[in-house]
Amino acid sequence: MSNGSYRVAVVGATGQVGTLMLELLREREFPATEIVPFASERSVGRELEGGVVVRGLARAAIRGFDLALFSAGGSTSGEWAPRFREAGATVIDNSSRWRMDDEVPLVVAEVNPDAIEEHRGIVANPNCSTMQMVVALQPLHEEAGIERLVISTYQAVSGTGRRAVEELLEQSHALLHEQRIAPPHAYAHQIAFNALPQAGGFAAGEDHTDEERKLMNETRKILGDDAIRISATCVRVPVITGHSEAVNVQTREALSPERARELLEGAPGVAVIDEPKASRYPLAIDAAGRDEVFVGRIRRDPGHERALDLWIVSDNLRKGAATNAVQLAELLHERGLLAGSPDARRTARSAA
Ligand SMILES: NC(=O)c1ccc[n+]([C@@H]2O[C@H](COP(=O)([O-])OP(=O)(O)OC[C@H]3O[C@@H](n4cnc5c(N)ncnc54)[C@H](OP(=O)(O)O)[C@@H]3O)[C@@H](O)[C@H]2O)c1
Repeated sequence: MSNGSYRVAVVGATGQVGTLMLELLREREFPATEIVPFASERSVGRELEGGVVVRGLARAAIRGFDLALFSAGGSTSGEWAPRFREAGATVIDNSSRWRMDDEVPLVVAEVNPDAIEEHRGIVANPNCSTMQMVVALQPLHEEAGIERLVISTYQAVSGTGRRAVEELLEQSHALLHEQRIAPPHAYAHQIAFNALPQAGGFAAGEDHTDEERKLMNETRKILGDDAIRISATCVRVPVITGHSEAVNVQTREALSPERARELLEGAPGVAVIDEPKASRYPLAIDAAGRDEVFVGRIRRDPGHERALDLWIVSDNLRKGAATNAVQLAELLHERGLLAGSPDARRTARSAA
């Protein structure tokens, strides 16, 4: 491991994911000499935990960083990630802006860490529902080859952003007090006490949402297998944190539920909770605040001899976003791939 000491920018530092990124960089003792939070003009000057003060994005303010973690939406990443890169930083981007770009690796720390070696200044962090699913699917894919996936997600409102969490709480409070709710903003319909068969938006001519498309395209890119056939329905449910997924996995080779359980028990980042008769299986409320991907209800699909059914749950803000981003920062550091690391400085000098 290189003895790096880096200047780190966190863009979107006041958001749900950005706040956690700051916390995890400190908690996991990432070797930073300075961590600088950036957010929109609305937050400039705000003091955050640890006494750091929020800055605004401006060309003069982004000089001299080795690493920039972005979690401020696709348009901010589209505009500012290349500028940070030009100014010398390596960017880890949590938005969807760069994920399907052929020149940008899409990396999950436990699944395809070697892909990070190919980065050209930007590394993409996958969508939360994809992230947790591929951590559980990778060991099964390696053993038996995944042929087809049929996925139904039950996604928490924190996946939409802080405003959506407030809306769920406001609506729930109003309805419990027999008051009328305000017109919904975060979603097309009331989310409290409801289930919406729409997570994300519909692009012109599309009958799948962008969230469903991300799940399909990003899974194939991360597992490195374009032949996997995928069907997905993404549902928004009134849960604050923790996405749940029912996944039907059809493999090329035979795979028993017992062998799948054994593989999952040995897989990095996975925790198996699978005693259904004792009502023990993964739950969103238990996964919230944890970094693992929880898997349970591992069973044979009675409708297909080479298919299993799984229930996969994880904290969408942690492993689904901030934890993986910080793991990627650690990977870049460990492999000497950051501008401030001795190895990268040597490479830069020899390239000059
Ligand atoms: N939530 C999840 O489960 C999840 C999972 C994976 C990926 N993501 C992605 O992560 C990103 C953030 O999600 P979140 O849930 O943390 O959202 P959030 O709580 O709404 O926070 C958004 C952050 O972006 C900042 N921001 C907005 N516009 C900006 C601008 N023009 N310039 C600079 N900063 C700007 C906000 O600053 P202000 O506070 O100043 O407005 C805030 O810090 C999104 O791209 C989302 O798609 C989220």
